[in-house]
Amino acid sequence: MRHLSWQAEEGPLFVAAELPPLTPEETARVTAMRRHLHALVQASGGLLPFARFMEEALYAPGLGYYAAGRRVFGPGGDYTTASSESDAYAALFAHKAAGLMHAGLPPEVLEIGPGTGRFAADFLGELHRRGVALKAYHLLEPHLPQEQEQRSRLGNGGEQAFHWCRRAPAGFRGLVLAHEVFDAQPCSRFTWDGRSLHGWGLVTEGDRLGWRLGPAEPDLAAEIAVIGAELDAPLPVPYVSEVAADYGRVFTLLEEIPEALFLIVDYGHPRREFYHRDRCSGTLRCHYRQRVHDDPLHAPGAEDITAHVDFSRLASLADTVGWTVEGFTSLAGFAVAQGSLEAVAISQERRRALARLVDPSVMGEVFKVLVLVRGENLPLPDLERGDRLASL
Ligand SMILES: C[S@@+](CC[C@H](N)C(=O)[O-])C[C@H]1O[C@@H](n2cnc3c(N)ncnc32)[C@H](O)[C@@H]1O
Repeated sequence: MRHLSWQAEEGPLFVAAELPPLTPEETARVTAMRRHLHALVQASGGLLPFARFMEEALYAPGLGYYAAGRRVFGPGGDYTTASSESDAYAALFAHKAAGLMHAGLPPEVLEIGPGTGRFAADFLGELHRRGVALKAYHLLEPHLPQEQEQRSRLGNGGEQAFHWCRRAPAGFRGLVLAHEVFDAQPCSRFTWDGRSLHGWGLVTEGDRLGWRLGPAEPDLAAEIAVIGAELDAPLPVPYVSEVAADYGRVFTLLEEIPEALFLIVDYGHPRREFYHRDRCSGTLRCHYRQRVHDDPLHAPGAEDITAHVDFSRLASLADTVGWTVEGFTSLAGFAVAQGSLEAVAISQERRRALARLVDPSVMGEVFKVLVLVRGENLPLPDLERGDRLASL
């Protein structure tokens, strides 16, 4: 989920007829994407698993939502992220980072999926004001159109040069950041009808695309069996939800890091809350021109598709690939610990922006921070009483 520039909470879902019409350029893009999806459905024997659909809709080279140079973020785009709205979010993280770097964290940063580059600019400016000089700021950006947008915003960063990369530089030591990257990873969708588990798949119906429920693939069924065993109560019927297809591919990009503190910030929940009986239609959402809806076939390629993060799954995966899970809290909990909120609230505008970030009905609660570490003796952010590690 993302948030929208004009409303505090997610609010009601829009139906297709209420969404603004596509522009001619978007219509052309969606037509090309639909053609591409038709071909993939045929090539896969008539049913394309939902996670493959989402992968293509977001990332197909030259066609996908994030891969084709479309304006995505901010009031002129489809949705707003925490860092694209004001400098308060970056200032909060810079305040934490400055403290950690003064305490011995190597002064180098790697940001995964940097979006517009605004976070990097604001964060670096704030670090500078706090007397921290970075050795380097690396932007791990897989898509050329986004890299070009970041380059035009950031230039080369002056003395503290920005570096673009496709995976973590070998031997990187320092702070790794990922904001709203894991909720942009493809997921599988399933429906539980009380007797059987069904996986969602894309099919063609003449010229049209549609969904069909088929027997869940063995991997998905096994995963849901594990999830079910961890829940306090059986899932209600019917129950629709998601399972992330592969958080691991982000970690693969970080394999060569010997020592780092990794902060993952995203919309999501511990597993028991993610698969709560009240969340019976899942967390999958689409964003188109500041409207949120739940039809991923409305305009594939021209709108965002996102699902919340299962932080229990993410933490367990991180552990298996060599990251120690050191902390977990809400954004509000992260912000208030160590007096960071007061330290950053230096103007009326900042105070207003911070109030939105920590407000539990906007981002303060649903936005979480997961703290991972690789290596020995690195300083850690003190989450104080807000640490919810036991909930994962
Ligand atoms: C919701 S946007 C968030 C952008 C930015 N971090 C922000 O908070 O404004 C998700 C971003 O994650 C990027 N992304 C997704 N998978 C990625 C991966 N495996 N490596 C790097 N970036 C990735 C997407 O390209 C997209 O720019």
